[in-house]
Amino acid sequence: MKHITAKQIDAMEKVFRLNLINSITGYKSANLIATKSKDGITNVAVFSSVIHLGSNPPLLGFILRPTTVPRNTFDNLKETGIFTVNHIHEDIIKDAHHTSASYDGEISEFDKTNLKETYRDGIFAPFVEGCKVSIACRYKNECFLKENECYLIIGSIEHIYFDDNLLSEDGFVNLEKAKTVTVNGLDGYALPKLLERFEYARPKKEKDGS
Ligand SMILES: Cc1cc2nc3c(=O)[nH]c(=O)nc-3n(C[C@H](O)[C@H](O)[C@H](O)COP(=O)(O)O)c2cc1C
Repeated sequence: MKHITAKQIDAMEKVFRLNLINSITGYKSANLIATKSKDGITNVAVFSSVIHLGSNPPLLGFILRPTTVPRNTFDNLKETGIFTVNHIHEDIIKDAHHTSASYDGEISEFDKTNLKETYRDGIFAPFVEGCKVSIACRYKNECFLKENECYLIIGSIEHIYFDDNLLSEDGFVNLEKAKTVTVNGLDGYALPKLLERFEYARPKKEKDGS
């Protein structure tokens, strides 16, 4: 089995380390975060760090890279308080990936890709048309991570939209049916397959089969 130590990681060529460390923590969520500036310029970018933070109150978070270069998503969501999180599905992976290119704040990634913006229920930020699952969030807070100068951005979930057929009776949303993809590393997109769902796990007296 391959064994790599922290010392070896430290000495690695930059791109190799980037790919290794981005892959090694497992599959990540694949989302497009869309915002609009006060001046009406829209922005959309791929983020693989969106995580569940809690369901009561319903919160999500994502990691924002250091703000040593302009971060349009961050600027817009701080300015307006609103952002949308849109699941990437298999038909849009190429355009979704391209949104990671660093465009000036005056340029909308919606104008540089085939992704289209759409609006719902008077919500200020755009949604990505055709996404099977989308969430509108309000910016709540940010935590500075002193170890790498990133931020954990915290948003409250205000509106959820998804195709009717994805919802199970118990509230489970079937992402396989939505063809939502997952991110492997920093540039690999994969389509997961739901294997099974289980009951709420409770302690048992004996190991199965003993
Ligand atoms: C697969 C993938 C995942 C990414 N995930 C993140 C992320 O979680 N956080 C982040 O700050 N940037 C992430 N990026 C980089 C952003 O997409 C990129 O910096 C983008 O230009 C940000 O756009 P903005 O300046 O318009 O906000 C990711 C890029 C790729 C290709």
